Amino acid sequence: MIHPSRPSLSLLGALITSWACAEVHAQTWCGKNYMITEPVTNPGGQFPISKTFSEPQIALRCGPAVKPYLPEDLDSTDPTFVSILVDLPVVFSNISGAIPFNRASSLSTVDVIVLVDGKELVSASVPVNASKHALPFSLSSLQPGTEAHNLTCTASLGEGEEVIGSSLLTYLPAKPNSIGSVTKMDMRSGTLLAKPPTGEDGPYGRIFPIGFYTQFEGYLDSELSISSTLKEQGFTVVHTVPPFENNTILEEVLDKMQKAGLWLMYDMRYTYMNDTSVSEQVKLIRSRPNLLLWYTGDEPDGTSDPLNATTHAQFLINSLDGGDGKGGSGYHPVSLVLNCENYFWSEYASGADVLMQDTYMIGNNVTFSSEWGTPCTVDYGDCGCDNCQGIDGVGSFKDISFRMDVFAERAFIDGWELEKVVWTVPQGFGTEEYLCSSYAFRCSPLTLPSSRYWTRNPTGEEFVVQSIVGINHGGLGVVSWDDPTTPEIKASASALALALTSGPSNMSAFILNPSSTFKQVTTTSGIDTGMWTLDRKTLLLASNMNYENTTLEAADLGLGSKGFGGGLTEVFCSGLCSAGDESVVFGSVGSGGFVFSA
Ligand SMILES: *[C@@H]1O[C@H](CO)[C@@H](O)[C@H](O)[C@H]1NC(C)=O
Ligand SMILES: *[C@@H]1O[C@H](CO)[C@@H](O)[C@H](O)[C@H]1NC(C)=O
Ligand SMILES: *[C@@H]1O[C@H](CO)[C@@H](O)[C@H](O)[C@H]1NC(C)=O
Ligand SMILES: *[C@@H]1O[C@H](CO)[C@@H](O)[C@H](O)[C@H]1NC(C)=O
Ligand SMILES: *[C@@H]1O[C@H](CO)[C@@H](O)[C@H](O)[C@H]1NC(C)=O
Ligand SMILES: *[C@@H]1O[C@H](CO)[C@@H](O)[C@H](O)[C@H]1NC(C)=O
Ligand SMILES: *[C@@H]1O[C@H](CO)[C@@H](O)[C@H](O)[C@H]1NC(C)=O
Ligand SMILES: *[C@@H]1O[C@H](CO)[C@@H](O)[C@H](O)[C@H]1NC(C)=O
Ligand SMILES: *[C@@H]1O[C@H](CO)[C@@H](O)[C@H](O)[C@H]1NC(C)=O
Repeated sequence: MIHPSRPSLSLLGALITSWACAEVHAQTWCGKNYMITEPVTNPGGQFPISKTFSEPQIALRCGPAVKPYLPEDLDSTDPTFVSILVDLPVVFSNISGAIPFNRASSLSTVDVIVLVDGKELVSASVPVNASKHALPFSLSSLQPGTEAHNLTCTASLGEGEEVIGSSLLTYLPAKPNSIGSVTKMDMRSGTLLAKPPTGEDGPYGRIFPIGFYTQFEGYLDSELSISSTLKEQGFTVVHTVPPFENNTILEEVLDKMQKAGLWLMYDMRYTYMNDTSVSEQVKLIRSRPNLLLWYTGDEPDGTSDPLNATTHAQFLINSLDGGDGKGGSGYHPVSLVLNCENYFWSEYASGADVLMQDTYMIGNNVTFSSEWGTPCTVDYGDCGCDNCQGIDGVGSFKDISFRMDVFAERAFIDGWELEKVVWTVPQGFGTEEYLCSSYAFRCSPLTLPSSRYWTRNPTGEEFVVQSIVGINHGGLGVVSWDDPTTPEIKASASALALALTSGPSNMSAFILNPSSTFKQVTTTSGIDTGMWTLDRKTLLLASNMNYENTTLEAADLGLGSKGFGGGLTEVFCSGLCSAGDESVVFGSVGSGGFVFSA
C-alpha cells in the first residue's frame, strides 16, 4: 500500500527522494488529479458499461479444472479433478463472446465439444446456463510439456449456430530440482493446492492463505523468531515486503518461515517492471519449498504503470517458473493488488491469476480528502478509498463487498471466471505510532511521513468484519496491510486465522471444498452472511456491519421452514455473538461462524 503522500515506511531513506521526484511528474492517483491546484479531468480507463438486451445472449467459457496439471495427476481418484469446466451463461447484457440465443425457450441442454490443439478431447451435453460443469477427461491422451495446449470449445445451438470459447490447458512435466514446490489452482473452488511448506513430503492440501504484508527491514530481518510466533498465531502465509537488500539475511528469514511451516508470497513491487531484476529474483526464490505464489504490481493502477506491465511481468515470471511465458501456467500463480475501483481494470487485472483488492475504509473521510482538501469524486481527488460511497463521508463495509462484487462481475464479463480468483486486503493500519515500539523497527515519529488520510486504526472487531465481508463475497485469501500492526488487530486476526485453518471444525474445510454449495445474503438489517453447505451441514459466516447490537433471524436467510435445523454450533466469535434457536444477536461490529444441519 503506497499512497501519493504516504510512501511505505520501507521507502524511507534513499528512496524517499525518488518518490518525491516522481510526485512532481505524476500528480494523479487512479488517473485522477488530486491536488487542489489541478483541474478536474476525466481519468479515462472506465470499464465499459454493459449494454442491456431484451433478447437473451449466450456465451461459452471452458478451462481446465486445475492449473497446471502434472503427470502425478494421471492417478487422481477425484472424479472431476482432471476435467474441463464449462460455463454457458445466459444473460441479457453484452458479455465478451456472447451471441443472441434465439432458441433459449426450447433448448435446455446443448452439445459441447472440447478440442485440444484441434483434436477432440471430450464432448457432452451441458445444461444451458450451467456454471463450472465438469467434463472429465484422461490426461493419458496428452503429452506433458512446457508449452500450453490450446483449448477450443464449441456449443451447437441448432440451426447451424454455434458459440465458441477458448483457453489454455497447461500440462507440465514433473517439476525439475531447480523448482522447490508446485502450487496448483483448483478452479472448481478457486483454491490453491500445495504440498507442505516445510519441504517434507506429503499430500497436496487445500490452503486458505491468511496473513499480513509483513515488513522485512527492521522487522522480519531483525527478529528471526517472528515466523514461529506467526505460525502459532494461526497464520498460514507471510507476504514479505521489499526491499530485500541482503540476500544472506533474506535466505535466513525464508528458512525460518519454511521451518515454521509458513507459505511465502514473494513481492516484487519495486522491480516488477525491470526484467533483469525479476529474472534474478525468480531464479533465487523458485527453488524454495514454501513459495506459494508471486506478487508483482502493488497498486499499479494507482500509479498508472504502463498498461501492459503486469501481463509482461506475469509472462516473464511464468517462463522462468516452468511455463511457456505466453499465457500458460508455470509452477506457481502470479498475484497483484489493484487499488482503484475503475481504472483500466481489465488491462491491469489481465496480468494476475490471483487478483487482490485493497479497499481501506476505516478512519478516513471517503468523500472529502483531508489530505488534499478536495472533494473525492469519480474524476477527482484521493481519499485513500477510491470511488468509495461510504455513508455521510464515513467509509462503509459495503464499500468492500461492492469492490469484491464488481471485480467478480468484471471477470465474468471479460470471460475470466474460470481463470482468476479474487482475494481481499483488510486494512490493518491507520496511525502508525505503534510501529516504533515494535521490535527494532527503524523509525521515529519525526521521520514518519505524516498522513491525514486515516485518523485511526481499525479495532480488532472491525478488522474481522472487513475480512469476513471479503470472504463472503468470494475472497479465497486474506492478506492485510500490514504487520507490525496493533496488538488488538493481531489478536483478532489470529483468532480468525485459527478458526479458519486449524482443528477439526476449521471453517476453510467448508469454504475450500469444491463440493460445497455457496450462497451469500446481506440482510436488510445490515448483516453480511455467507453459507457453505457440504454433506448436509452448513457453515454460516456472518458479520454485523452496524455499530449497534443487531439480530440475525434464520428467516432472513431464505432457509425455508427448517431454519437453523438442529440449532447452531459456534465455531468462531468476534465481539458478542449470542445464538438462540432461530436467531443470533451480534454486538456492534460483531462476527461469528456457526455450523448447523441443513
Ligand atoms: C458492450 O457494449 C458496449 C456498448 O456498445 C461496449 O462499449 C462494450 O465494449 C461491450 N462490452 C463487451 C464485453 O462486449
Ligand atoms: C442463470 O443462472 C444464474 C445464476 O447462476 C441466474 O441468476 C440467472 O437467472 C440464470 N439465467 C437464466 C436465463 O436462467
Ligand atoms: C496454440 O495456438 C497458438 C496461436 O494460434 C499457436 O501459436 C500455438 O502453436 C498453438 N499451440 C499448440 C500446442 O498447438
Ligand atoms: C549481509 O548479511 C550478512 C549476515 O548478516 C553479513 O555477514 C553480510 O556482511 C551482509 N552483506 C552486506 C553486503 O551487507
Ligand atoms: C534493473 O535491475 C538490475 C538488476 O538488479 C539493476 O542492475 C538495474 O540497475 C535495474 N535497472 C533499473 C533501471 O533500475
Ligand atoms: C508496452 O506497450 C508499449 C506501447 O504500447 C510498447 O512500447 C512496449 O514495448 C510494451 N512493453 C512491453 C513490456 O510489452
Ligand atoms: C468529510 O468531509 C466533509 C467536508 O469537509 C464534511 O462535511 C464531512 O462531515 C466529513 N465527514 C467525516 C465523516 O468526517
Ligand atoms: C479441517 O477440517 C477438515 C474437515 O473436518 C479436516 O479434514 C482437516 O484435517 C482439518 N484441518 C486441520 C488443519 O485440522
Ligand atoms: C447488546 O446486547 C448485549 C447482550 O444481550 C447487552 O448486554 C447490551 O446491553 C446490548 N447493548 C446495547 C447498546 O443495547
